[in-house]
Amino acid sequence: MKSYEQLLLANKAWAKEKTETNPDFFPNLAKGQSPRFLWIGCSDSRVPADMITGTEPGEIFVHRNVANMVVHTDLNLLSVLQYAVEVLKVNHVMVVGHYGCGGVRASMQKSHLGLIDKWLLNIREVYRMNRAELDGMESEDSRADRLVELNVKEQVFNLAKTSIIQKAWAERQAPLIHGWVYGMEDGVLKDLVRFDHTTELDPVFSYGF
Ligand code: CO
Repeated sequence: MKSYEQLLLANKAWAKEKTETNPDFFPNLAKGQSPRFLWIGCSDSRVPADMITGTEPGEIFVHRNVANMVVHTDLNLLSVLQYAVEVLKVNHVMVVGHYGCGGVRASMQKSHLGLIDKWLLNIREVYRMNRAELDGMESEDSRADRLVELNVKEQVFNLAKTSIIQKAWAERQAPLIHGWVYGMEDGVLKDLVRFDHTTELDPVFSYGF
């Protein structure tokens, strides 16, 4: 059997099992979604949002890109964010990085990989802003792990800089923005940082809603 045929077969079995357990499962989902969470994670195949959080279809609105970045010129991310925050009215947005992130690793190397280099420039900026701490670390591994954490924090900050988040904070004191890191070796999510409507931003980033 071809590898992709296995996926279709597994899907049939999954749909059958779901329906047998709860005949209303798909009819209920088909009516619409009201997820409470927006997940901004890495595209890495080892960090599936719903599986590692024990959630079901309908619970998490998901955006994934290489190295879980929040880039202010990324129409895709901004559209997902605007829809999730203003229309779905999610109460939590989580930026989820992971140790052993290939994107973060690549940003620490001199090799040229093509278009992806442009995307990873954003992480190189995070490195530059934290150079003293990172350069002072003993091993390449611990430096990479720390850059994963610093990158998550910076992306949480990038979310807080958006007018979408600031407007929602002014209007409904939500969502909370979380920065998490997933441990590839133990499967555990670590809670790193949290921003909410009371978080004081540098005034230069405030829109004054
Ligand atoms: Co990654």
